[in-house]
Amino acid sequence: MLIILLGPPGAGKGTQAERLVKEFAFAYISTGDILRKAVKEKTILGRKAQDYMDSGQLVPDDLVVDIVKERLQEPDCQKGALLDGFPRTFAQAVALDKMLLMIGTKIDTVVLLEVDESELIDRLTGRRVCSNCGANYHMKFNPPKVRNVCDKCGGDLFQRDDDALETVKERLEVYKKQTEPLIDFYREKDLLSVIDGNKDIEDVFKQIDAVITDIEER
Ligand code: AP5
Ligand code: MG
Ligand code: ZN
Repeated sequence: MLIILLGPPGAGKGTQAERLVKEFAFAYISTGDILRKAVKEKTILGRKAQDYMDSGQLVPDDLVVDIVKERLQEPDCQKGALLDGFPRTFAQAVALDKMLLMIGTKIDTVVLLEVDESELIDRLTGRRVCSNCGANYHMKFNPPKVRNVCDKCGGDLFQRDDDALETVKERLEVYKKQTEPLIDFYREKDLLSVIDGNKDIEDVFKQIDAVITDIEER
């Protein structure tokens, strides 16, 4: 099974992915998480990606395509994979189709999380992330039990550099220009499952869970 989570910055892709990988035992592939780790560790990839990420721009296609190509061939992906934040451009979508052809698998569905723009800005500017396990929180909508401490592992929470208001606005523009056209691309292939992402976290999870369960039962 191969599921793509598509949606604007702050739509809840990471939050839902955290739950979905537990429920369905998918391998989790978040290009954003992989890139942030590379930046933190100052690898060659990280040094190439950092300026793009800090300014809210997309990292060049060839870099992310290589990441996903390698990751999809790891053994844990055989039981199914959940892609978060990839593909984000036409070139990436085409490259993904090629990769899947090579490894003999196909996309089961593209889950589109639709959320209003004002809500996205509130979500992103209030987000906190665990520095240890990567779990997502929100100061108002999904607060940890103890302020700035991760419920799951006790790690410290931090604010992502690209969650500053100006960078958030840039990321939303980049999404509209470069990623939104993929909605029609996948709709035309009859692969799109549209989810109302404005609802609370549990409700959104139930909607996605129903879509995936339906595919499994086919
Ligand atoms: P990436 O890490 O993928 O960021 P993004 O797409 O901008 O998405 P976010 O992670 O910001 O949002 P999310 O949808 O995961 O929301 P979350 O669940 O955290 O990419 C970062 C950068 O890396 C890019 O800008 C680019 O430079 C580079 N990059 C990555 N992939 C790339 C690619 N393929 N090509 C090129 N460059 C790439 O939720 C947000 C907040 O809302 C949280 O606080 C959460 O608690 C809260 N929340 C979630 N759901 C709800 C809800 N239902 N109700 C209320 N609050 C909610
Ligand atoms: Mg995310
Ligand atoms: Zn944690």
